[in-house]
Amino acid sequence: MLGNKLKVGLFVILGLLAVVVTWRLLATEFHLSRTVHLAEVVTPVGTATASAIIEPTVASAPSLGSLALGHGILIGSAVSGNWLTTDKAYAGLVSREFTLLTPENSMKFEVIHPALDRYDFFDGDLVVKFAQQNGLRVRGHTLVWFNQLPKWVTDAYKKGSYTREQWINILRDHIYTVVGHYKGKIYAWDVVNEAISDQGLLLDSLWLDTIGPDYIALAFQWAHEADPQALLFYNDFSGEGMNIKSQTIYSLMDGLLKAGVPVDGIGMQMHISLVKYPAARELAANMRRLEALGLQVHITEMDVRIQDSSAPMAERLATQAAIYKEIYTVCMQAPNCTAFSTWGLTDAHSWIPSFTGHADAPLLFDQNGQPKPAYKAIINILKSSR
Ligand code: XIL
Repeated sequence: MLGNKLKVGLFVILGLLAVVVTWRLLATEFHLSRTVHLAEVVTPVGTATASAIIEPTVASAPSLGSLALGHGILIGSAVSGNWLTTDKAYAGLVSREFTLLTPENSMKFEVIHPALDRYDFFDGDLVVKFAQQNGLRVRGHTLVWFNQLPKWVTDAYKKGSYTREQWINILRDHIYTVVGHYKGKIYAWDVVNEAISDQGLLLDSLWLDTIGPDYIALAFQWAHEADPQALLFYNDFSGEGMNIKSQTIYSLMDGLLKAGVPVDGIGMQMHISLVKYPAARELAANMRRLEALGLQVHITEMDVRIQDSSAPMAERLATQAAIYKEIYTVCMQAPNCTAFSTWGLTDAHSWIPSFTGHADAPLLFDQNGQPKPAYKAIINILKSSR
């Protein structure tokens, strides 16, 4: 059974490689290798206004974001434009501690492209405007994903309304329009999200089914055409350590790069828990092999759930802090790891409770926006390794 799956996986990858090799012949204008420009991320960001409401005690202390610039690392959070503009304490904490923002939902297909001929940039624009006003970078998330698609797309798929050519046109228009709208304002795009299964196969998706495996190379090419300055990332979960999934991501990227497809980095989502997280040595090894391909790594969506342990709360938070510290340390020591983002601002904003159906506390700030042991652990490494 597993043998067959591996064969199918290999077959899919070989097929994909064949496609991208053809693609390279067709697209000769690509630059073949893109170097990691660390200097780009160490530009000081604008001054942030401290929020007296959330954390008066650390308001004047150096922040995560400002300290990490010294390591060439952007510190990010997933945010909502709505909260940034309606909740002063939320906005204050974001601008004080972070240098990179990812709209948690507002640039996803279902939100930004709700009808065939209609785009809705409202919330995404709020995030970008806030970032510009506060000197922060933005990671665009995400252009191509099987999930959070609007009804008009899933209905058309179910009904078999469109040909392959028409699906190609739809996806190309989507990418040109969204990336074009934000041209020059997005530091890095998650171009393709979660395209590979845990078994190392191309994941079943509307895009794979309608366009075929070359939807991945096409998406990167279109994004690059729409904004040649934006860094382009492949983003996924559970491919952080050394396993069949990260091996497949590596092989896929190797093939794309050899074919001249413009890929700049790998996003490691890092949705982990107290009982399941990548070993530091494996994470470092994975970052190293990606570096050898000339790829950057961004930790894009880190959270560390604590619900799977029955230890006392203080102990769980201490273990969580140790895990955050370990992952940050690996990133700090890897020259190609240039961003470290958590998925949500405080425990009150995390997607984990609704996703898992259980209460949790997976982030760096508690329900009241107070720094947790995990925050302190990272600040301490930042201070001691300046
Ligand atoms: C999640 C959001 O946090 C939720 O608000 C939404 O309901 C579902 O999506 N991987 C991703 C993110 O790439 O886009 C997901 O975000 C979490 C998993």
